Amino acid sequence: MSRRKKIYEGKAKILYEGPEPGTLVQYFKDDATAFNAQKKAVLNGKGALNNRISEYIMISLGRIGIPTHFIKRLNMREQLIKKVDIIPIEVICRNVAAGSICKMLGLEEGETLPRSIIEFCYKKDELGDPLVSEEHITAFGWASTAEIDEMTAMALRINDFLCGMFAAVGIRLIDFKIEFGRHTDENGDFQILLADEISPDSCRLWDMKTDKKLDKDRFRRDLGGVTEAYTEVATRLGLIKDNPKKSTPTLSIVPNGDT
Ligand code: TMP
Repeated sequence: MSRRKKIYEGKAKILYEGPEPGTLVQYFKDDATAFNAQKKAVLNGKGALNNRISEYIMISLGRIGIPTHFIKRLNMREQLIKKVDIIPIEVICRNVAAGSICKMLGLEEGETLPRSIIEFCYKKDELGDPLVSEEHITAFGWASTAEIDEMTAMALRINDFLCGMFAAVGIRLIDFKIEFGRHTDENGDFQILLADEISPDSCRLWDMKTDKKLDKDRFRRDLGGVTEAYTEVATRLGLIKDNPKKSTPTLSIVPNGDT
């Protein structure tokens, strides 16, 4: 791995040059950060859990026709992906009020929103990824109107699918953040692909019965049990074999043949 060329290092992942042109290897770190990296920790096992959960979600979304950057999981921490030019917009989809929308609009956490709401944030760490409007996005050329429409339509389809997928295992999808990239294949065909990851780092997931948080808010809010919560999500999705002893979560990952 060390001999591979590093293309980019983010807060939770590293991108290396892939084995074929037009591919990259996405490595999931155990590092957790919050509040624009003001808060940091290393959470053993988080990278492997997010790699597996994100793989499962990307494969499932691919099956319903969402084009994604995912090619295959290589090992516990790495996946092979298509190389894309990331559109510098974080697309957030919210079903229930939590996090920044509560502060911004004075809503009570847990309030169901009148409908699913899409927000756009400009990906710029120095500015803390500010909320922006379609006007800002097109005026500054970060994405075109057609691309915004496509990202919005995909985000809403992804939301519908993920709400059902998580509900089936007793989890409420409160909100999530996704990123998209521009990709041109070997035939010169251009497409916008779902990129980055979808994992408990980028979603809010609450247990349906107890409202227990099963996502990165456990880290942001010092609730403890972060990797245990991510393990719970992976176990409920059938991605990890249930450990009868329950003391330390096992990471014996279920192969992805029929998942
Ligand atoms: P927010 O309520 O803090 O704006 O977060 C909305 C959703 O986006 C939530 O599921 C967490 C996710 N998120 C990220 O994945 N990365 C980020 O940098 C932030 C701020 C939020």
